[in-house]
Amino acid sequence: MTDSRGTLAGRRIVVGVAGSIAAYKAVALVRLLGERGAVVDVAMTPSATQFVGPLTFESLTHRPVVDDVLELDADQQIAHIELAEAADAVVIAPATANLLAVLAAGLVQDAVSAVACASRAPVIVAPAMDAGMWTHPATQRNAETLRGYGYRIVEPEVGSLASGLTGVGRLAEPPTIVDAVERLFARAGDLDGVRVVVSAGGTREPIDPVRFIGNRSSGKMGVAIAEAARDRGASVTLVAGVMSVTQPRGVEVVDATTASTMREAVLRHAPGADILVMAAAVSDFAPQRASGSKIKRDGSSLAITLVPNPDIIAEVGEMPEEVRPFLIGFAAESDDLEANAAAKLRDKGLDLIVGNVVGGPFDAIGSDENKVTVFGAEGALTDWPMLPKRQVAERLWDLIADRWRAARPAEPSEGQARRSRRR
Ligand SMILES: Cc1cc2nc3c(=O)[nH]c(=O)nc-3n(C[C@H](O)[C@H](O)[C@H](O)COP(=O)(O)O)c2cc1C
Repeated sequence: MTDSRGTLAGRRIVVGVAGSIAAYKAVALVRLLGERGAVVDVAMTPSATQFVGPLTFESLTHRPVVDDVLELDADQQIAHIELAEAADAVVIAPATANLLAVLAAGLVQDAVSAVACASRAPVIVAPAMDAGMWTHPATQRNAETLRGYGYRIVEPEVGSLASGLTGVGRLAEPPTIVDAVERLFARAGDLDGVRVVVSAGGTREPIDPVRFIGNRSSGKMGVAIAEAARDRGASVTLVAGVMSVTQPRGVEVVDATTASTMREAVLRHAPGADILVMAAAVSDFAPQRASGSKIKRDGSSLAITLVPNPDIIAEVGEMPEEVRPFLIGFAAESDDLEANAAAKLRDKGLDLIVGNVVGGPFDAIGSDENKVTVFGAEGALTDWPMLPKRQVAERLWDLIADRWRAARPAEPSEGQARRSRRR
């Protein structure tokens, strides 16, 4: 029998309440989370206590409210740090315009911002405010900054506001916020048991024992993709080219520093995998012959003939259906991203392609952030802003996991499986 209380049973959730007229809705939120089996602690800003008394929350949760950043708990521990460390998720609802600014700036000036800053748990923020405040560029920028930290924003809704006006700024309804919390935990294991291969980093094609033709790839994007898959429960093999970041823990790492060793590693691991993400920057060309000894300077010029390397991802794309993993490529293009990505997707038999523009004012190579567009056979699928690479990776997995599941042949029912076993 499944637990009727679902994904929230036993989860420690801190609800942070700020000084908005919508603070009364946090009472319903706390009740709903409790009904679904979550253990709820409430942190309040001093302004919030002017709107709803801590006693209301304490009588619902049977736990003390933390409303003072300088407070110690019954065991003389710092109350907000205890909450931050125990939390499986922090849900700030309602979040005022002021609190968004405080969180975006990394300030710690009340119990709610203290918990958010100290916790490593995922944070959900549900803003509530006057429409003018919500649409102000400063507030929008703060919300975007929080998205960049990995916070999920539950967008405010359109409706009548405390001012008597109608506009955007109303706190999302408590069931909508609970949905967002449940989705958070549902995603946590959405790749359980899925076999994922990720390639990352650049390659070096030897000219002689000390020289090579390489590229500036840092491996950051591929490593973020491998780590995000690992954290969602996948068993991950990372085919690691030359990287400037440390290799992640908890994944199988296969070193492959030339295009040909990378081809070997990918072709060895791809057939057993469910999903292959080729994020490595594999050299398109290699010197026709690598000199066995160091080439000496003799005053004359040196010509190196480059020959094309095998197209690894196209080879995987041609694998028979039964062994070919769901295939995601990357396209770094200096111009005409959409047309080039579409052609690459089609020609190489990919399921999805992640495009990013290189060589412009922003350079994704080596950066901690990236702005990508994902294309499927039907065209562009995303319109994401510039995000930290880990956030890009999280969004990519949301998309990849859904598409991969939809593309998979349906699992046979128990009955079908029995019938086919009898045959
Ligand atoms: C009746 C009343 C309602 C308010 N409602 C909101 C609101 O919905 N959203 C908001 O951002 N600020 C609202 N404010 C202003 C905040 O309470 C004020 O900015 C306060 O400093 C917020 O503190 P906090 O962010 O630490 O909770 C309201 C103020 C009053 C007097």
